[in-house]
Amino acid sequence: MVDETRLHQFVVRMLGDLGGALSVPLVRIGDRLGLYKALHADGPMTPGELATRTNIAERYAREWLSHQAASGYLAYDPGTGRFTLPPEQAMVFAEPNSPVYLQGGFDLALAMMENQALVESAFRTGKGVGWGAQSQCLFCAAGRFFRPGYHNNLVASWLPALDGVAAKLERGARVADVGCGHGFSTVMMAKAFPNSSFVGYDFHPASVEQARSHAERHGVAANARFEVALADAFPGKDLDLVTFFDCLHDMGDPVGAARHVRQTLKPDGCWMIVEPAAGDRLEDNLNPVGRLYYAASTMVCVPTSLDQPVGTALGAQAGLAKLSSVIREGGFARVRKATETPFNMILEARP
Ligand SMILES: C[S@@+](CC[C@H](N)C(=O)[O-])C[C@H]1O[C@@H](n2cnc3c(N)ncnc32)[C@H](O)[C@@H]1O
Repeated sequence: MVDETRLHQFVVRMLGDLGGALSVPLVRIGDRLGLYKALHADGPMTPGELATRTNIAERYAREWLSHQAASGYLAYDPGTGRFTLPPEQAMVFAEPNSPVYLQGGFDLALAMMENQALVESAFRTGKGVGWGAQSQCLFCAAGRFFRPGYHNNLVASWLPALDGVAAKLERGARVADVGCGHGFSTVMMAKAFPNSSFVGYDFHPASVEQARSHAERHGVAANARFEVALADAFPGKDLDLVTFFDCLHDMGDPVGAARHVRQTLKPDGCWMIVEPAAGDRLEDNLNPVGRLYYAASTMVCVPTSLDQPVGTALGAQAGLAKLSSVIREGGFARVRKATETPFNMILEARP
């Protein structure tokens, strides 16, 4: 028997979900055409004012603003006919350094939709989908999605949470940032620790190119460079620190990567592994963050790993127990969770 009240509650929830899904292109248009930025910088506007300010057609401005108000993304004042971006919404849509800036998440949503056909056929075959075969938008989206977390935490709290690592970096250490993607983490560390030298490695050549130009733009080319290499084969010896940001679970052979990291480190070196925050059991992850991560894991992380030799496919929410066993199998004697945020856990592994 259908319970009418529960049916009503669920349909209302689904309308919210569907509204969120349909908002993806609208939020991205607002981002790309600078509509949020204009509202953030210049305050409440009518459709005509926004159209003039951002050089778009007024009819589209009116429809877009109406959708944003219906979504609760903007506030509408019927008295003046003006739309406002409230400060909390500005942190999500218009302030790239805010810890809750989510524009990258909307880019990821689009990339995942574009990849549906590839992943759908992989469901049938059980094969993977190569990182490089995914939608072009994915590589920028991944970097953009993770960047606010790194900007707000990496130098301020994650590195200091590792035993003695920040002091070594101040003095001058040798660091490899593996699976570096567009190199946001590498560049941030290179800027904060000019006495240390950083090499970012990634197996995706187009990402390495992007990372190089990113380093140029940020003036850290002197102590940061980027090379194409696999996680289980990157060159390096006597390193003080190896970092893996949100990528160990994407790799085909995470144990092989762990073994290789072990060989590149000094005896007192440190391996820092940043992974999505997750509990060890499925039932621990049935929450809004878990929902996003399982979606990304199904569409991106599992296919990426299955496309590589070994194809372990840890999944984005492997959890501390599973990750620790991978790290120990790679020859590390000690693993601990050094710190965490609602989105990430930061592990410290020692030979
Ligand atoms: C989710 S992205 C994270 C990128 C970056 N660390 C960040 O946090 O923005 C995962 C990265 O792992 C890289 N990757 C996956 N498997 C790899 C492997 N076996 N060796 C090297 N890089 C790999 C991908 O190319 C991609 O850049």
